[in-house]
Amino acid sequence: MANAVVFERVRKSYGSTTVIPNLNLEIPEGSITVLVGPSGCGKTTTMKMINRLISPTSGTITVGGRNSAEVDPVALRRSIGYVIQQVGLFPHLTIAENISLVPRLQGGKGSIDHKKVDRLLHMVGLAPDQYRDRYPSELSGGQQQRVGVARALMSDPPIILMDEPFSALDPVTREQLQDELIRLNQELNKTVVFVTHDMDEALKIADQIVVMQNGNVIQQGTPDHILRHPANDFVREFIGEKRLQSHLGQLVQDVMVTQPVTVSPGRGLAEAVQIMHRKRVTGLIVVDKHGKYLGMADTADIHKRYPDESLAIRDVMRTDTMTLSPDTPLADAIGFVQEAPYGYVPVVRQDGTLAGLLTRASLVDVLARPYLDQERSVAQ
Ligand SMILES: Nc1ncnc2c1ncn2[C@@H]1O[C@H](COP(=O)(O)OP(=O)(O)O)[C@@H](O)[C@H]1O
Ligand SMILES: [Mg+2]
Repeated sequence: MANAVVFERVRKSYGSTTVIPNLNLEIPEGSITVLVGPSGCGKTTTMKMINRLISPTSGTITVGGRNSAEVDPVALRRSIGYVIQQVGLFPHLTIAENISLVPRLQGGKGSIDHKKVDRLLHMVGLAPDQYRDRYPSELSGGQQQRVGVARALMSDPPIILMDEPFSALDPVTREQLQDELIRLNQELNKTVVFVTHDMDEALKIADQIVVMQNGNVIQQGTPDHILRHPANDFVREFIGEKRLQSHLGQLVQDVMVTQPVTVSPGRGLAEAVQIMHRKRVTGLIVVDKHGKYLGMADTADIHKRYPDESLAIRDVMRTDTMTLSPDTPLADAIGFVQEAPYGYVPVVRQDGTLAGLLTRASLVDVLARPYLDQERSVAQ
């Protein structure tokens, strides 16, 4: 709990206008928690109440186990890194001077901790030799943003607040910085509170997503949970139909293995075992010469009868197992795969021919796909 942040019954009003009515929220230590929601829903306000750039009208915010209202605001801000969209580097100071400015002002020490600056530059993907003595105007927007992250890490704060830090960047740079952030978080175990209005970004980097609307938390959970169980139409709309469909709206034929290992019914058991060994599979699908599905057999079925050389695969295959049709919605098929005797289910067309195989592994692929799609779209 040392670096967790907890909101309890927090309200924020400006005069008679209440922007945060009653916020209860726990931001676990060491996680990346992403506040996501449309413009004006209160993300920045929530964020700024953590480091007391804004004070709550009522309620309690506990930072690292202490009531933040009782901590000296300067000391509080020193223990919390802050990165915003407009990095705000000083144009007349070098990159190294910019990164080390705040601790130098606070500590009253004139000299720059060059070793630390170099380590941080390296960490955010900027070669220290090349960049430490440059001026901000000699850097691209993405590079300046990296400097902003390095600056926030300089005093080694356990908590980092990031308010739409990557929003103004091109998609490729943005993707790189997101990857960098995930890596940094794993390496340094910081508690990160990240604000974005971009659901893709949230899904990619978050351990926990907090969906906000009109100052309220509408839903909170892992990206997977939110994708699977959007709390209401607002969340569903915010996630976007496309992303939901890629998750659940698919058919068996969209995700099945299309070239399963098959054998003809007349194959001897020893031959069947050889094929399984060569193809590294634990079971075989039996089809006739027209491609019609007949049955399936796995190692256990074969093993039981193995010494009997007169037997062919048709004598040991199972014909009583469930099959699926290619146009079955995936959502309806998942249960069958879980209960299938071998962990996979043959997919058979109307005319009886084998179309493919739905396996547990193909289901894992489909669950991962929203994330994979995103990586692909940026790689293009
Ligand atoms: N100083 C202020 N006085 C009055 N209303 C404000 C002030 N600052 C922010 N607001 C209002 O509070 C709401 C939340 O703002 P903000 O937290 O910045 O939203 P977000 O970061 O989600 O876009 C908005 O409706 C905004 O207009
Ligand atoms: Mg904002």
